[in-house]
Amino acid sequence: MGILTGGGDCPGINAVIRAVVRKGILAYKYKIIGIRNGWKGLIDLDYHPLDLDSVSGILHKGGTILGTSRTNPDKYPRGYERVCENLRQLQVMGLIAIGGEDTLGVANRLHRMGCPVVGVPKTIDNDLYATDSTFGFDTAVNIVMEAIDRLHSTAESHHRVMVVEVMGRHAGWIAVYGGLAGGADAILIPEEPFDVEDVCEIIRRRQARGKNFSIIVVAEGAVPKQLGKSLTSGGPDEFGHVRLGGIGNFLAKEIEERTGLEARATILGHVQRGGAPTAFDRVLGTRFGIAAIDLVAQGKFGHMVSLRGSKIVPVPLGEAVAKLKTVDPELYGISKIFFG
Ligand code: F6P
Repeated sequence: MGILTGGGDCPGINAVIRAVVRKGILAYKYKIIGIRNGWKGLIDLDYHPLDLDSVSGILHKGGTILGTSRTNPDKYPRGYERVCENLRQLQVMGLIAIGGEDTLGVANRLHRMGCPVVGVPKTIDNDLYATDSTFGFDTAVNIVMEAIDRLHSTAESHHRVMVVEVMGRHAGWIAVYGGLAGGADAILIPEEPFDVEDVCEIIRRRQARGKNFSIIVVAEGAVPKQLGKSLTSGGPDEFGHVRLGGIGNFLAKEIEERTGLEARATILGHVQRGGAPTAFDRVLGTRFGIAAIDLVAQGKFGHMVSLRGSKIVPVPLGEAVAKLKTVDPELYGISKIFFG
């Protein structure tokens, strides 16, 4: 069988790979290959065998030992056909694809073409539908919380407004969880376009209460009403997603101009994706990996493992990629109680 990781990396991937390889070899006696750099490895036939030694000592490590890429087979001549032919040539009887909406979208199409694929949900953004949580999200939230804690003390000393830009392309899960945990004074998410003047009003209300500093958390995909779109910092990837970025600096400048207070932007960027996973993400990744290799053994292809309540259950890949999971308005409502 084969295993690959696609899309942005995410703390906890190595826990999944370790679990798949351990159970695959010890319980099912499989020969396992690690495909390098996502779907690219299946287009270029770039892979290497994985044994128990290859996955020893990787549980606590961030990133992915397999490498990753945002390769879309659709962008290559006969891309999907090549992937299917190469899987057959390698005699892969089960492929585990660890990824987010794009990687699992490819996995779903391959499944419909007859390839034996199982998916594992991975993204720090936590925006995959059909699972209560993805691994990597908890680590990212903890990094954001710690950053906000640190920014609080310097914001207070300098009487400044600190704008913290966090990841979250289509969904503001990281912003809401990180902001709630860190005690942010306003949280801005892609799901709800915001008025800069409303943010300034929150800051002024705090001033009136004698709080001469504020922490504003903004997701990279948040949309200021005056612009009507999110800010970008680069062109599209092979799946058509533009690179987001710039909202933190934009907002800090607007706040300075409108309130006369000093404002600074901190862009947490890829720090949120790097480094060791939390205990929660190590355990969730491990449980996902075990469930995924069990699905392969049962021949239950075309499914993604998912967390539902406290159980890991299979859901059809088609259902998993049909739509994105955006922030629950009730949860966002809770965070608003603490604005200002
Ligand atoms: O998909 C996860 C994610 O971390 C998004 O939040 C972010 O927009 C994107 O990846 C960044 O991608 P890259 O690593 O290609 O800059």
